[in-house]
Amino acid sequence: MTDLLYVHGGTPLSGEITVRGAKNFVSKAMVASLLGETPSELRNVPQIRDVGVVTGLLELHGVRVDADAEGGVLRLDPTDVESAHVADIDAHAGSSRIPILFCGPLLHRLGEAFIPDLGGCRIGDRPINYHLDILRQFGAVVDKRENGIHIRAPRRLQGTKITLPYPSVGATEQLLLTAVRAEGMTELTNAAIEPEIMDLINVLQKMGAIISVDTDRVIRIEGVDRLVGFQHTALADRIEAASWASAALATGGDVYVRGATQPEMTAFLNTFRKVGGEFAIDDEGIRFFHPGGDLSSIVLETDVHPGFMTDWQQPLVVALTQAKGLSIVHETVYENRFGFTDALRGMGATIQVYKECLGGRPCRFGQRNFSHSAVISGPTPLTAADIEVPDLRGGFSHLIAALTAQGTSAVRGISLIDRGYENFTAKLEALGAKFDRD
Ligand code: EPU
Repeated sequence: MTDLLYVHGGTPLSGEITVRGAKNFVSKAMVASLLGETPSELRNVPQIRDVGVVTGLLELHGVRVDADAEGGVLRLDPTDVESAHVADIDAHAGSSRIPILFCGPLLHRLGEAFIPDLGGCRIGDRPINYHLDILRQFGAVVDKRENGIHIRAPRRLQGTKITLPYPSVGATEQLLLTAVRAEGMTELTNAAIEPEIMDLINVLQKMGAIISVDTDRVIRIEGVDRLVGFQHTALADRIEAASWASAALATGGDVYVRGATQPEMTAFLNTFRKVGGEFAIDDEGIRFFHPGGDLSSIVLETDVHPGFMTDWQQPLVVALTQAKGLSIVHETVYENRFGFTDALRGMGATIQVYKECLGGRPCRFGQRNFSHSAVISGPTPLTAADIEVPDLRGGFSHLIAALTAQGTSAVRGISLIDRGYENFTAKLEALGAKFDRD
């Protein structure tokens, strides 16, 4: 596929699309299969690039992966796991953040792991200090090298007590994937409890793990000696569902998202309603639509679950450019997630970013000079522009802006969007969007 899309904006999106399993769960469940002594089967797997990246890494370590891509089924057979060559792993350097989660499973299976420099979206510094601290606390030895990190376990990893400075999704997953086969009890305080993490816990329990999630973000894991394969259907991608919902709202459209589920989207649905969008939920999915009339401005703060997800923020900001009055969005998860607003300003949006914590309680970025609050003044008509996709969610937001704007926009670098949105051009077509490939 070409990397450039000419989008002829101004047509409301209307119709039906389907979302499958969550990118941010499927990739972790694939890594979990490494821990089993027998094969696993994962269903509802979307065809996105991140699945390809993790498949490549698993295959390098001797896991047999059979995919029925259309049917969304992956069979993962880890019976012949082996050490991969550093040079081969390095070829995957920079392509995703998932490799860091291979550490625990590989330490249990092979006693060592090599992790290349990590990729992922450039939406902040995205350090891995929590991950490395966790691995050290289990007894692993971490050796930073020029092109990555070498980690080894001189003896069986030992259960431990850890308090996270911030409820990081990746660090909580790191701990889970390491603790399930460590010796003894592990207790994690201030854990992340995102639905994707709960579904990972479901998978691990199917494999034989003993994990309890207590109140107040405490997770306890009783290490076991062996785990087996799992069969599991991935939970729906609530980020993709919310992205299409925001696209429907910004363009004045009406989109039925088959596969979208309510319980994981409560915070989004509340906000969508406050902005003036309407939705109708049934057993198969959620219909999101613009009921006509003015949209309302809101004050919004992103947060860890059960709050409003950071990944929902960027697509919704485009819809807020069409709302009447001043909206305030305070980003508290990533320090640098408003870079995408530069392009929106170029298209006619009135958005200012501020270093202060606006509209809510102070967050950990307030004193640190990061532009992490945005004030959006609307409604402003958007006009077509030549735009470059900056990252996955910011890129989808640009696409929504181009669909909302009058005229023809050139959206460059759209292959980045394939990382997390399955067949998005086919879905755009199904919703009546007008666009041409270069
Ligand atoms: N953090 C640290 N040190 C660490 C790890 C995290 O300081 O060792 C900080 C981060 O810099 C960030 C905050 O903690 O400020 C939260 O990061 P978290 O670890 O929760 O994020 P992540 O695991 O790297 C996942 C998703 C992101 C999503 C976040 C929050 C995957 C592959 N990625 O990232 O998804 O935004 O959780 O929900 O699961 C996306 O899908 O576009 C995306 C960026």
